Amino acid sequence: YGDPNQKIDYVFKVVLIGDSAVGKSQILARFARNEFSLDSKATIGVEFQTRTLVIQHKSVKAQIWDTAGQERYRAVTSAYYRGAVGAMLVYDISRRQSFDHIPRWLEELRSHADKNIVIILIGNKSDLEEQRAVPTEDAKEFAQKEGLFFLETSALEATNVENAFMTVLTEIF
Ligand code: GTP
Ligand code: MG
Repeated sequence: YGDPNQKIDYVFKVVLIGDSAVGKSQILARFARNEFSLDSKATIGVEFQTRTLVIQHKSVKAQIWDTAGQERYRAVTSAYYRGAVGAMLVYDISRRQSFDHIPRWLEELRSHADKNIVIILIGNKSDLEEQRAVPTEDAKEFAQKEGLFFLETSALEATNVENAFMTVLTEIF
């Protein structure tokens, strides 16, 4: 996953947001280290990881920020969004409430982030098809209405995680 001595052409900050337990930290672990853990602990404060990729012959360092979905563990909001050029708005396809809260997350994002930020809506845990509580069509419709990209992912099965990050990073580019 990238040569550490490589020269960097661009650094792009991307933030992850969404309810607690939707899988934000595991999406990041999958993208940054190709790892996954089933007994992931709730994030406290802010963490970030980076991965350098080549996009259109330029090396891009993706700096991905991850914070707590739980209000009491969240850090100062304005600092979290400062300088972000991309955002991943994550819900869990097996938990309806996490999708119902998306408009609130979007509102917070729009009030703190740059107006040109690239946003992707992500329905994570697509491996839990038998427990699906959010139809793909509902999310697709919402994303279209709000002008967001949309993908369903599984951090567990590594489905679409790479694709989701590439969608955001390529669009920023
Ligand atoms: P906070 O840090 O509290 O905001 O939560 P989070 O959104 O970072 O969730 P986290 O990544 O810690 O994942 C929560 C739980 O969901 C853990 O048990 C993960 O293993 C599990 N999980 C994450 N992604 C997937 C997935 O794609 N499929 C399945 N089945 N479980 C997942
Ligand atoms: Mg977390």
